[in-house]
Amino acid sequence: MLKVQKKHAEKEYGESQTKEKTLDNSKMNQPEINSLLDLRNLSVYYGNHQAVKNVSMPIEKNKVTAFIGPSGCGKSTLLRTINRMNDQIPIAHYDGEINYDGVNILNQDIDVVALRKEVGMVFQEPNPFPKPIRKNITHALKFMGMNKLNMNEIVETSLQQAALWDEIKDRLDDSALSLSGGQQQRLCIARALALQPNVLLLDEPTSALDPISSAKVEDLVMELKQHYTIAIVTHNMEQAARISDNTAFLYNGDLIEFGNTSDLFTNPKEKRTEDYISGKFS
Ligand SMILES: Nc1ncnc2c1ncn2[C@@H]1O[C@H](COP(=O)(O)OP(=O)(O)OP(=O)(O)O)[C@@H](O)[C@H]1O
Ligand SMILES: [Mg+2]
Repeated sequence: MLKVQKKHAEKEYGESQTKEKTLDNSKMNQPEINSLLDLRNLSVYYGNHQAVKNVSMPIEKNKVTAFIGPSGCGKSTLLRTINRMNDQIPIAHYDGEINYDGVNILNQDIDVVALRKEVGMVFQEPNPFPKPIRKNITHALKFMGMNKLNMNEIVETSLQQAALWDEIKDRLDDSALSLSGGQQQRLCIARALALQPNVLLLDEPTSALDPISSAKVEDLVMELKQHYTIAIVTHNMEQAARISDNTAFLYNGDLIEFGNTSDLFTNPKEKRTEDYISGKFS
């Protein structure tokens, strides 16, 4: 529950509905699942161009949900909407709802800074601050008003969680820009984890990485899902099949198919899904 929104939600939905909810998935032929986020009729536009079209699907708690689909089909747009990063694009606007633990986070009165603390995001290109490694984490904490915490402890814990600590513990005061691309990406994941989010949004986090760094990030995602709810965009079908529990296939802004990953990859219901996962178009 977004702390700033608790009262609002209780008023709007009633206390009982602000508790953890499950979604009726009968229409999707899915077993009932424990969703943390529910996208309901979500549409996202850039001016007149509709990039995401009426998408409804759950994002299951403590699971990995993969978003796949050809370039330009709306994956990043959809992900950025979940923590309101699209608000920074003046022509972007949306319809529908994203319910997060009982609160529609598309409401205009949502505290987006608090939202982004709970719903962290890591982008395709590693974007560390041009500061020492340690300060990449402490700066993020201070920015979020978390300066009373034990900084050294959080630096160590989050770097350990991101499987980076052993590699860089002796050079915490070196510039983050001196790290390799794979290390920078794991630092960005550590920075997001330091804020103790509930949800991690990962937009192609391994596309700029070599196979060894990619494997480390994949292992990390598998490890993290015990404590976090993860949504990941990937162009790598093997990666989606390996690390995700549920998969959403988007095409031209439409959600073509959503379901359990192994079902979707072994027995897709839609011809377009089958064509895409078998490499007939990209
Ligand atoms: N800032 C923006 N302004 C205008 N249009 C945008 C903007 N960002 C994305 N779009 C358009 O929205 C559509 C979806 O783009 P998006 O970046 O979400 O696709 P994607 O599935 O993430 O693609 P890729 O796999 O190439 O990253 C595209 O037609 C794109 O041109
Ligand atoms: Mg993208």
